[in-house]
Amino acid sequence: MAVEQLNSRPMAEVKRFGSSGSEQIPEWAWRVLASPGGGPLRYRDGLFWAAGQPIGRIEQGIIRFNISSGDPSTEYYRSIGGAHFHERSAVAYAMTSLDTPVYHHYLRQFATENHDILVVDVGGGDGRNALPWLRWGFMRVVMVDSTAAALYRFRARVFAENPEWLQRLVLIECDARMLPLAHDVADRVLAIESLYYLNEDYEKGLAQCHRVMRPRARLFLSDRSYEGALLARLLYHGGVGAMLETARSQEMWDGEDRTRVRTRFFLRQELHELVAAQGFQIVETGGISALSLLLSFLSKSGRLGLQSDAYLPAVHQLLIDLGNTGCCSRCHVVIAAK
Ligand SMILES: C[S@@+](CC[C@H](N)C(=O)[O-])C[C@H]1O[C@@H](n2cnc3c(N)ncnc32)[C@H](O)[C@@H]1O
Repeated sequence: MAVEQLNSRPMAEVKRFGSSGSEQIPEWAWRVLASPGGGPLRYRDGLFWAAGQPIGRIEQGIIRFNISSGDPSTEYYRSIGGAHFHERSAVAYAMTSLDTPVYHHYLRQFATENHDILVVDVGGGDGRNALPWLRWGFMRVVMVDSTAAALYRFRARVFAENPEWLQRLVLIECDARMLPLAHDVADRVLAIESLYYLNEDYEKGLAQCHRVMRPRARLFLSDRSYEGALLARLLYHGGVGAMLETARSQEMWDGEDRTRVRTRFFLRQELHELVAAQGFQIVETGGISALSLLLSFLSKSGRLGLQSDAYLPAVHQLLIDLGNTGCCSRCHVVIAAK
């Protein structure tokens, strides 16, 4: 059963000439791709073309659209080789090890029974939130990110562990401000801790999510809260002085010294208003507890108390529960319908 038939909407189709490299991506990808921003796209002899210009290529199974240089968040992630959540997940009390089960719990509820839907993970990093969709049997998962290095690592891992999943996965290097997907194709879109890197262009990223979504499709959004930003600066990026600087300037800086990158954060109401302004209807809200920040900080200095590893399952459950009931979140979670 093809989802597009259910909705009787014509899907985009890339005009293809020649096949060089095109066999490296699943056939269904050609029906959802478009030029960055949603316009017509051509594929000729190994290159993508739009408006007569070469704009991308397929390289070792990854679709790579040219991204203009100079954007600080893109440059930052490229300078560190992309997100490294997979490596960090080996550390029991690393923030990703604590937050990932919370995200997967949310996503299980956010998923549909129909596995033919198109799932798009925007700024998916090294794949921690795309992976469960493949594990659950979803047939069409697109993950986009501006750092190819992380996409290559994710692809290599999937190839090593479950090579047949590559038929259900499409990886695209691109800018979240200009998604290279057709209008109205996605049924579930996730943008988890990625759009806040766009700063003043945050709304552009949200608008792109809205554009690629089918009517009544759903968006799962997680973005940094104001208190999450204050806590992160206090504990990780400069202490009390840095925390007060963020409160005063309303600017958040991640990373250290020369590799710092500015990011955005939100009051809950402010984020809800931004989401509504893009035409979304908010259907559910929650959060990612700030406790994960504190726990990972204490873990680094060996102050978690005795036998902390034995408590991990209980800690995971507590963090899942606090997602719904807690009031100090490091990220706001919003589920919204188009
Ligand atoms: C904190 S990581 C989150 C990764 C993933 N969503 C997760 O939860 O594991 C932020 C991600 O946003 C990506 N990113 C930053 N700016 C971007 C942009 N302009 N377009 C696409 N992705 C971007 C980074 O490369 C990075 O992988």
